[in-house]
Amino acid sequence: MRVRGRPLVAGNWKMFKGPGETAYFCRALRERLDGIEDVDIAVCPPAVSLAVAVQVLAGTEIAVLAQNVHWADEGAFTGEISAEMLRELGVYGTIVGHSERRQLFGETDESVARRVDAALDAGLWVIACIGETDEERSSGQTELVLRIQAEAIRDAVGSHEQLVIAYEPVWAIGTGKTATPEQAEEAHAFVRTIVDVPVIYGGSVKSENAPELLAQPHVEGALVGGASLDLESFAAICETASSVARR
Ligand code: PGA
Repeated sequence: MRVRGRPLVAGNWKMFKGPGETAYFCRALRERLDGIEDVDIAVCPPAVSLAVAVQVLAGTEIAVLAQNVHWADEGAFTGEISAEMLRELGVYGTIVGHSERRQLFGETDESVARRVDAALDAGLWVIACIGETDEERSSGQTELVLRIQAEAIRDAVGSHEQLVIAYEPVWAIGTGKTATPEQAEEAHAFVRTIVDVPVIYGGSVKSENAPELLAQPHVEGALVGGASLDLESFAAICETASSVARR
């Protein structure tokens, strides 16, 4: 990880899999994904499970990413973790600005931009998430929302080579509703006009819908939530990305 032009498939485990289950799952993942080529693969376990994931996946091409990071190096920020601390653990990168962070934990475009900036500064890779709500889409504000969110990130760090944007329509996350391949393609192409980095899609990606989504020219990978918790469904999505990459 990470080669430009190759699709990226990242599994966002959210608040699932403690250290014991992570060790077991990563051992299985190591074997199951061995030999899948032309795709960059990452897992994003909860903070307490990062160390064991790094250990078990050492020597493989599977990267371990955190789910969030703070902008300060250290300080009085109860509950937060710095980029340097993640680096010390051997973590490769981090998700920032996931819609659950924005909606449930008060994350703003400004705090997201600060976190992205600090993580990139420390040498981490970043998957920065943006996306519109159902209401915003139905009131015709999708492009406006994507523009504001993407510009906040771009204005902080530019089209940084260790930055990936995840387009995750909020209405598609954990709902079983997926953006159509056309909706995803349109949004990705639009985001690309604002910030020139790879754009991956997230929101109810499953092995069944992955082939169509990943076949879109501007869909450069997937951020997978629920389906990444199951070995076979995650492996199937990685295999799809690999076969799309070889076309
Ligand atoms: P989902 O989650 O695949 O379960 O919809 C995606 C995400 O939140 O990144």
